[in-house]
Amino acid sequence: MRKLAAGNWKMNGTGPAIAEAEALIAAHPSAPCDILICPPATLLSRLSAAAQGSALLTGGQDCHTAASGAHTGDISAQMLKEAGASYVILGHSERRADHGETSALVAAKTRAAWENGLIAVVCVGETGAERDAGRTLDVIASQLQDSLPDGLSGANTVIAYEPVWAIGTGRIPTLEQIAEVHDFMSKTLSARFGDASGGLRLLYGGSVKPSNAAEIFAIPNLHGALVGGASLKASEFGAIVAALSAS
Ligand code: PGA
Repeated sequence: MRKLAAGNWKMNGTGPAIAEAEALIAAHPSAPCDILICPPATLLSRLSAAAQGSALLTGGQDCHTAASGAHTGDISAQMLKEAGASYVILGHSERRADHGETSALVAAKTRAAWENGLIAVVCVGETGAERDAGRTLDVIASQLQDSLPDGLSGANTVIAYEPVWAIGTGRIPTLEQIAEVHDFMSKTLSARFGDASGGLRLLYGGSVKPSNAAEIFAIPNLHGALVGGASLKASEFGAIVAALSAS
């Protein structure tokens, strides 16, 4: 299984940010893991053009369920694909919180991604209050159940475990807590999807940095990271790619 270092630029980056991706490409002409950057939609075509022929893959940060239509401000999976994307992040906690996205909507978006040949990076994760209440595994179970359509395989989907309280905060769960959730996800997904979930990659996301990447990548049932802040600088994301390559 090829591991995956995925960068989520969120609403960061204008033209000059392409130079950071170009520096990353130059530093990693090839890698034993997949390298993905999901820039703002405005940069996707330019980043995809810059990445052509390199080891860098590109993706969107969200898509609509429909292929086209009267949905002001939205972007379809087909449009992402045409702009060079091969992946799309879906159900990120910022979408769930800021835009009221439900797991049922995430499942519909996942189907739209698949229909357009995009690999869905489906995010799940508990809030701090849910963890404090001892509900972490229940929350993960119900988000996995409701966000993932039948038909999932390791070829069309990646799961990212992102505790909401660890995103952008510099706080991460203990390695044991991450391992517990990854073990739980692995068992839950193989119980539901059987052999199809065999090649499914399970990422961790939330305050991954060069300084903590190696210890996170040593956790069993963990096949890469979804990285926000540290993906914006080629030097930092490159160090994470190197740690994943060495894991
Ligand atoms: P962070 O974000 O690495 O800045 O914590 C992770 C994410 O939201 O995907």
